[in-house]
Amino acid sequence: MSLQEKLEALKVATVEKIKAAEDLQLLNQIRVETLGKKGPITEVLRGMKDLSAEERPKIGSFANEIRDALTAEIEEKKAALEVAAMNKALAEESIDVTLPGKKMAQGTRHVLTQIMEEIEDIFIGMGYQVVEGYEVEQDHYNFERMNLPKDHPARDMQDTFYISDEILIRTHTSPVQARTMEKHDFTKGPLRMISPGKVFRRDTDDATHSHQFHQIEGLVIDEHITMGDLKGTLEALMQRMFGADREIRLRPSYFPFTEPSVEVDVSCFKCGGAGCNVCKHTGWIEILGAGMVHPNVLEMSGIDSEKYSGFAFGLGPDRIAMLRYGVNDIRNFYQNDVRFIRQFKGE
Ligand code: PHE
Repeated sequence: MSLQEKLEALKVATVEKIKAAEDLQLLNQIRVETLGKKGPITEVLRGMKDLSAEERPKIGSFANEIRDALTAEIEEKKAALEVAAMNKALAEESIDVTLPGKKMAQGTRHVLTQIMEEIEDIFIGMGYQVVEGYEVEQDHYNFERMNLPKDHPARDMQDTFYISDEILIRTHTSPVQARTMEKHDFTKGPLRMISPGKVFRRDTDDATHSHQFHQIEGLVIDEHITMGDLKGTLEALMQRMFGADREIRLRPSYFPFTEPSVEVDVSCFKCGGAGCNVCKHTGWIEILGAGMVHPNVLEMSGIDSEKYSGFAFGLGPDRIAMLRYGVNDIRNFYQNDVRFIRQFKGE
């Protein structure tokens, strides 16, 4: 077989191999084997010096032709394999948009948040501002400025979580009263505020007690504020919360920061006053504590108690939620059991 025939046969065999190559790795192997430094074509070109001067250019150009042809063949195949690989990847990654989607679990606001926002809305409608207090509070604001000096026996009722001698986590939202009063500019109008938030007491947790619960503080101060304003305001609130025909009644009570102090009852929303399990057969439900702001509290906040007077109240969203929804254990609100939480979808 002449050298030319050999080269021709090599070309035919290699083209066959290239056509059959199914992946880029194999194709590369063919390229190295045929056109590489140790391949047959390089060998022929290297052996040219032994050829006659007449044969040399013929064989030389023929070998070059074959090398170019095979190179082109390989490039073409390579491009085809690359396209095929990409199409395969695309096919594997394709998304069937007609498949049903994964359902997103939708959360709801916590039932206590719902109650607090509902109450906030009612008071905003009456011109109150909503004030944020501090959960970590100074003894000074939590007790002293609320007319509970260090040795006051009423501190025992709010046995507290202390962080240091002077810092505690608040036992009620009342410290926000003092913080708001000392900042208020009465030349701009009366002070009307509510302040919702968490409070903490060293309580033994049971169905009606939790060491953490919520309060909404209310405070109004202006000239000529009377107990009639307090009663009218709380009656309006209870009617909005529990029905238009609710009544309230005030019973004497004691808080160091109000004088006089009252306990407020609302007529039972379930039986209307006849007596049932919700109102423990009394017709009335105890709902909040309130009173006229003690002159000491006003004076300690720099307010002239001869000129100004006010009322304050503290109500419990936890208790309101329990009453309204018939929840019999306050701990349900804090255990984050979604089966409980999900019952209160909100609007
Ligand atoms: N701070 C009182 C409590 O936690 C509630 C209250 C607030 C009473 C405002 C009167 C006025 O028991």
